[in-house]
Amino acid sequence: MSLTAPSAIDTTRRGRTLRIGIVGCGVATTVTHAPTLLRLRQHHPLEVVAVCDPDERAAGRLSDLFGSAIFTSHTDLLTRATPEILLIAAPDATHAAIALDAMNAGVTNLLVEKPLATTRRQVDAIESAARRTGTHITAGTMLAHDRTADSAIEHLRRSGPARLVEVQCWLPDNEPFIAAAGQPPRTVATPQLPASDSALARLVVLSLVSHNIPHLRALVGGNVRVQHASLRRPFGSSAVLTTPTAVTHLDVRFDSVAEPLWTLSARTDSSAIEIRYPPSYVQAGGASARVTDDDGTRELTPPRKSTYAQMWEDVMNLADAAVPPHQLSPASVRAIDDARCAVDLADQIAAFIQDTSTPHRTPTPQTVAS
Ligand SMILES: NC(=O)c1ccc[n+]([C@@H]2O[C@H](COP(=O)([O-])OP(=O)(O)OC[C@H]3O[C@@H](n4cnc5c(N)ncnc54)[C@H](O)[C@@H]3O)[C@@H](O)[C@H]2O)c1
Repeated sequence: MSLTAPSAIDTTRRGRTLRIGIVGCGVATTVTHAPTLLRLRQHHPLEVVAVCDPDERAAGRLSDLFGSAIFTSHTDLLTRATPEILLIAAPDATHAAIALDAMNAGVTNLLVEKPLATTRRQVDAIESAARRTGTHITAGTMLAHDRTADSAIEHLRRSGPARLVEVQCWLPDNEPFIAAAGQPPRTVATPQLPASDSALARLVVLSLVSHNIPHLRALVGGNVRVQHASLRRPFGSSAVLTTPTAVTHLDVRFDSVAEPLWTLSARTDSSAIEIRYPPSYVQAGGASARVTDDDGTRELTPPRKSTYAQMWEDVMNLADAAVPPHQLSPASVRAIDDARCAVDLADQIAAFIQDTSTPHRTPTPQTVAS
């Protein structure tokens, strides 16, 4: 079976300059998106025309890099600037409302940091607004843009239905990555973690597991049932998910682990893959992967481009593709279905944890819609 090589670096120069707006100038923007855009600007005409953050100092630091106009409210930015692409990297709970405001203001291309939305109702609202306005939706799950991981997953899919999938995500605290990038300490207090087990379990899925949902859905579909789930404090969870043909084990934790470990391994009846993802904030290269089948075992080399750069190039390419009225682009369908799956999985796992921590109730597995 042949393997597709990771795509070569696309340095095609565009004719027109893409106007980009940024809402939320915290760590994710300064450590990942800003350096990525500064590098891409060498090959793609783009301009960060406006940045927004209620913290003017944070907005000012970002504006210094790009010479952008500064706003302290996203509604002002949407009224007075006309970005073609809007990055939404404000806190999770604000994503859906800002995305809806942006679509109503005529922005046709959104890159929304994960999670795209935090409730099923928000996902539905984003879907109908995107359909109505012809907006492209991309979620900031950068691993979904990694071409080496894509190749490995495509290889496995061609060999039959996945039988077993295991996701292990053990990440150390983010702060050393942030400090290594030379960023000042956060200007806002780190949000308190929810005290309730089920709320924390929900947050773990939306903020961490959501990164792996695109690949999980590609392998087993969205209709998974939670058979078991447990919380790993301070921030993590384990879960067993089933579909009629596959079992999935999830083990994610964000803790003081010595070495980052982020892998997805999966097997069909005849093939197996193991993908090793880079942790968040890594600005060079991407996943490596091992593929095993009847022909033996081969290593797929990581792409030269960082997953953040690939994600932004994919977003910029969407800017040139018009969506027919009342339809969604295939990329938007994927992002929205991934978000719906993440929210439903979060709800299921939260319900399971609530059920098991409440005496006299039997946990009831439910179905996650794809
Ligand atoms: N894809 C990744 O690798 C990755 C990594 C880290 C964080 N994230 C996501 O990025 C988002 C931001 O996370 P962060 O770590 O940068 O948090 P942060 O707290 O460092 O930054 C958030 C920023 O948003 C600003 N803000 C708050 N409300 C706002 C509003 N209504 N409009 C505009 N700005 C507002 C804050 O003042 C702050 O500067 C989160 O959704 C998070 O899940 C993604």
